[in-house]
Amino acid sequence: MGRVMMGVAAGVAVAACAVATVVVGRRVRSRRKWKRVVGVLRELEEACETTVGRLRQVVDAMAVEMHAGLASEGGSKLKMLLTFVDNLPTGIEKGNCYALDLGGTNFRVLRVKLGGQRSSILARDVERQPIPQHLMTSTSGDLFDFIASSLLQFVEKEENGSESSSIGRRELGFTFSFPVKQTSVSSGLLIKWTKGFAIEDMVGKDVVECLQQALTRKGLDMRVAALVNDTVGTLALGHYHDADTVAAVIIGTGTNACYMERTDAIIKCQGLLTASGGMVVNMEWGNFWSSHLPRTSYDVDLDVDSPNPNDQGFEKMISGMYLGDIVRRVILRMSQESDIFGPVSSTLLMPFILRTPLVAAMHEDDSPELTEVARIMKDIVEMPDVPLKVRKLIVKVCDVVTRRAARLAAAGIVGILKKIGRDGSGGITSGRSRSDFKMRRTVVAIEGGLYTSYRMFREYLHEALIEILGEDIAKHVILTVTEDGSGIGAALLAASHSSNNVDSVQLL
Ligand code: BGC
Repeated sequence: MGRVMMGVAAGVAVAACAVATVVVGRRVRSRRKWKRVVGVLRELEEACETTVGRLRQVVDAMAVEMHAGLASEGGSKLKMLLTFVDNLPTGIEKGNCYALDLGGTNFRVLRVKLGGQRSSILARDVERQPIPQHLMTSTSGDLFDFIASSLLQFVEKEENGSESSSIGRRELGFTFSFPVKQTSVSSGLLIKWTKGFAIEDMVGKDVVECLQQALTRKGLDMRVAALVNDTVGTLALGHYHDADTVAAVIIGTGTNACYMERTDAIIKCQGLLTASGGMVVNMEWGNFWSSHLPRTSYDVDLDVDSPNPNDQGFEKMISGMYLGDIVRRVILRMSQESDIFGPVSSTLLMPFILRTPLVAAMHEDDSPELTEVARIMKDIVEMPDVPLKVRKLIVKVCDVVTRRAARLAAAGIVGILKKIGRDGSGGITSGRSRSDFKMRRTVVAIEGGLYTSYRMFREYLHEALIEILGEDIAKHVILTVTEDGSGIGAALLAASHSSNNVDSVQLL
């Protein structure tokens, strides 16, 4: 009996040992997997590092590239495009003006009634429509016919009942938010597409001519009085409200900035004469590049897979079109390293499945169980069993990617301030010290969903601005949201460049 008992006891002990070994083995394996995933996060954090020292290097590089882009055509990846806008709206603009705003996921048509004083917009009607995906890659004829039809419907609705003879010729501001080589304030050739648009037959063509022809086909009597980039429209509206506005930045689907430059600093265009002595320059900063930018393997892969490799490097690290896809790529890598996410979802392999508004929603999920993260992972990415500790990791990934983007955008803004001598250092060519420099109130108009609708992005950007400039200087720099600025600003510029006004820009 004793022997039997001993045998049983030994058997139990062996079984217990075996179970313990399995449990311990599982724990060790699971800890190893966790470590690997955390390792991916650590690597990402390191590669995305934006210390204030590094941001200052980006600031300097931006200012230097701005000089180079102004010095000669092709002198920098920053195109520093002339806009032929030498005067910003002041308030004398009066009457009704239309605008058409094309450049992101949506396009807008607007009618604005201007009151003839600063900040006096008496009425505004805005209609927003998504651009059907297939039109983004079809032909210029298809795209512009669609736009002209929408504009026609809008005009007919707005002017219902008015005598067309009492309306006179309608003036239109056309916001076209892609790189354009302007030949006058109301004409310009498309240099290239960005943000997923790819209509080959339009590259090199005059975009106003394309629109004007479509308007004629629809029988709509309208004259394009101003062709503007969205940054320029935003600057115009910003300046209309506040005369201290010197620059404008868009951080939405794409990203870009413009500012008022002295004509004598635009060396590549010798003999440029304007009544004001200045001209708005569209920087096309989305294409900025510097070895100081913190680039990760995810950025490299995203670029290689994009329709425009080696192009728009800054934009691909910052703007709404891309942030979601960087996060997707990191989560994919993590889920390939370890099965703690559950089985790898084939949906996660699909480019652009995780859009930036979803990243914002996950990042700002403050529920204890991270229910929004769980919902997005289940409904969008088709990963229904992501445990809480992994959901926390996902939030951290969103944080790292967004923080880097916001801080780089802040460095870009300070780069412009440095170029125009508004960063408190007296400009990069003057040897003046901070202490003998009197900082003027400096307003930067800002627009775009990433900034306006993503609180964490906005907060990180402000924080970085203060870090780079220091509190004393930063308090003189005001970022103002100009809602619908790109469209309303174009209407304002159309009003100031209407057929009654004479062109004030001369190229000698
Ligand atoms: C375009 C710019 C535009 C910016 C913001 C970029 O992709 O190249 O012209 O201003 O997006 O919309």
